[in-house]
Amino acid sequence: LALNESPFAPSDQIAAVIKQSAAVANCYGNPACTRLVNAISETYAIPVERLICGNGSEELLEVVARTFVQRDDEIVLSQYGYIVFEMIARRLNARLVKAPESNYVCQADALLDCITSSTRLIFLANPNNPTGTMMSVAQVQQLLQALPNHIVLVIDLAYGEFVGFDYCEHIHKLVADYDNVVVTRTFSKAFSLAGLRVGWAHAPAWMIPGLYAARGMGTVNALAQAAAVVSLQELVLVREQVRLIRSECQRITDALENLGVRCIASETNFLLMTIVGSSRESTEALVDFVFDNEGILITLAREAGLERFFRVSVSTIENNNRLISAVERFLEQCKELD
Ligand SMILES: Cc1ncc(COP(=O)(O)O)c(C=O)c1O
Repeated sequence: LALNESPFAPSDQIAAVIKQSAAVANCYGNPACTRLVNAISETYAIPVERLICGNGSEELLEVVARTFVQRDDEIVLSQYGYIVFEMIARRLNARLVKAPESNYVCQADALLDCITSSTRLIFLANPNNPTGTMMSVAQVQQLLQALPNHIVLVIDLAYGEFVGFDYCEHIHKLVADYDNVVVTRTFSKAFSLAGLRVGWAHAPAWMIPGLYAARGMGTVNALAQAAAVVSLQELVLVREQVRLIRSECQRITDALENLGVRCIASETNFLLMTIVGSSRESTEALVDFVFDNEGILITLAREAGLERFFRVSVSTIENNNRLISAVERFLEQCKELD
């Protein structure tokens, strides 16, 4: 339960289309992902000239940064922003500027305070990984109203579906209203296709040719394209799975908080938590205990300032029960040792 994947396997229809595509894997996939772009356009009512697909949204995050950021330019992100933003900045030799969060939530004012004449781009995962928290649409609007329009705001909606499809729609509207906003989405989380690597970006039409130029020609493989098209026909199933995951997220929160674990209120399919009064060593011991006793892998937070936190992906009821029970046994063992 370490990578915030979906616990649900792709549907039989998707498995069948992957098999069909595998039979013609001697041919390249379509570099423009035409069928997938059309399907995304129809599903979300976004013009095709504002869409580009990528090898996971991770590729597109880097493609956008590579398009707008040069060595020594500044990239702003929040204090506990997604670690890949930091990795991208380092690959580009850009300077990283981190805005303080309040209560593990990113703040519009704090991001704006970080802006200098060298700022080229802001990365905002909303909700964010690893915190699971988010800014409201109104707060994002507040950020955009004050943001100079030569600075690009990338809003990463990898977990947007867990907040709601309506929420995603509101965020996408910002791309129509502002010429400097890019929204990225993924098929890896709510759509259960993490292993195929496919994501997409909604950007102002003027940016799209530049993003294609910065992206590799055939980075979205044919199997991924075909599967993603079918997954968009299964929105009823996706919504139901999202509902189950959100309800399990609440159930895990309640159960672990009862045991004295502090869970940061999550809007996603994962939880960031810490055992009250724990040290880095005891948090590591918990991660080891859960693995040794249940074979369940959970993640130690890597961000500076979150050393006593661990992150858990919400899974099936059975796996979640095993996790809760392992944490309970670990805490009992700690009490006995005291
Ligand atoms: C906030 C965030 N953005 C993007 C990604 C990357 O997703 P993808 O599988 O689409 O590359 C992740 C994956 O964990 C994530 O947590």
